[in-house]
Amino acid sequence: MAENILEDSILVERRLEVESAIESMVESSMIGPYSPAMELAREILLAGGKRIRPILALLAYDLAGGQNREEVLDFAVATEFIHTATLIHDDIYDGAKLRRGVQTLHEKHGLNCAIIGGDFLFVMGFGLGGRYEERIVRIMAESCAGIAAGELKQIQHISDLSTTPEDYYEIVRGKTAGPFAAGAECAAIIAGATEEEASHLHEFGMELGIAFQLVDDILDLTGDERMGKPRGTDIHEGKMTLPIIHALTLLHGESRRTLSEILAEFNDNSWDELEALLEQGNSFEYCRILIQNHLERALNYLYKFPPSRVRDVLEEMTQQVMTRNE
Ligand code: IPE
Ligand code: IPE
Ligand code: MG
Ligand code: MG
Repeated sequence: MAENILEDSILVERRLEVESAIESMVESSMIGPYSPAMELAREILLAGGKRIRPILALLAYDLAGGQNREEVLDFAVATEFIHTATLIHDDIYDGAKLRRGVQTLHEKHGLNCAIIGGDFLFVMGFGLGGRYEERIVRIMAESCAGIAAGELKQIQHISDLSTTPEDYYEIVRGKTAGPFAAGAECAAIIAGATEEEASHLHEFGMELGIAFQLVDDILDLTGDERMGKPRGTDIHEGKMTLPIIHALTLLHGESRRTLSEILAEFNDNSWDELEALLEQGNSFEYCRILIQNHLERALNYLYKFPPSRVRDVLEEMTQQVMTRNE
C-alpha cells in the first residue's frame, strides 16, 4: 500500500513537471512575434491531454539511469508539441468536432487557421528537439515521417472492407506506436544508456503504443464523454479499425451483409445492431486478448532492467493502458 502511494506520487510529480514545462514554454511564446500563432495553438495544447508521451520520456530517462531530468525536459515538451500538432491535423482529416473536451481548431477557427496552428506546433516541437544530438533529431524525424505514412495509408483504406489486420498494424505502428518507441528510445539515449538499453526501451514503447491505439479504437466504439472526444468518429469516417476488420472476417451470410450495410450508412440508430454484431463475432474479446499480449510483451522489455521504483511506475502505467477510459 505504502509502495503504491509512493509510485502514484512519482507519476503525479512527473505530470506536474511536464505540465509546468509546457505552460512556461507557452507563456514565453505569448509575447513576441509568434504570439498570434501560439494563441491559436494553446487552446488545444492546454485543454488537458493525458501527457502520456512526455511522461513516458521522463520515466524512460530515469529508468535508463539519467541523473539530471532538466536535460530531457525540452525533449519531453517537444514530444507533446509534436503530438498535439498531429492531433490538430488528424482532426481535420477525421472531421472531428471535439478534442480534449473543447472544440477542434478547424471547427472554431476554420481550416486555414487549423493547418497553421498544427504546423506552428510542429515547428516549435522540432525547434525544441533540435538542440539534441543529430541521432535524436534523426530518430524523431523518422518517427514523424512514419506518422505521415501511417495517416496516409489509413486514408487510402477508408471504407475498404478488404483491409487486413496486417494493413491495420502497419498504420498503427506508423501513426502511434512508432512515436512512442522513438520517444522512449531517445530519452534513453539522452540519459546516456547503452545501445541495448535504448533498444529495449524502443521495443517497450512500440508494444505499449500498439496496445494504446488498440484501446483507443475499442473506446471509439464503447467509450463515453470521459474521452473528451465523441465516440463513433472512426465509424462515421469509414476507418477500418481492428474490431471491424475482425468482425468482417468472422461473420458470414446475413450478419456479414448487415454489418457492411451498417458501415456504409452509419447513423446513431445503428449502435445497438453494430454492438450486437461485434459481440457475435467476438471481436472485442479478440482485440482485448491482443492488447493483453502487447502489454505483456511491453512488460517483458521493462523486466530487462533491474527492479527499481521507476520501473514499478512504468509497469503501473503499462497496466493502466488496458483499463483506461479517457
Ligand atoms: C490520441 O492520443 C491519439 C491516439 C494515438 C489514440 P491521446 O489519447 O494520447 O490524446 P491526448 O493527448 O490525451 O489528448
Ligand atoms: C491517432 O489516431 C492519430 C494520430 C496519432 C495523429 P486516431 O484518429 O484514432 O486518434 P483520435 O481517435 O482522433 O484521438
Ligand atoms: Mg482521429
Ligand atoms: Mg481514435
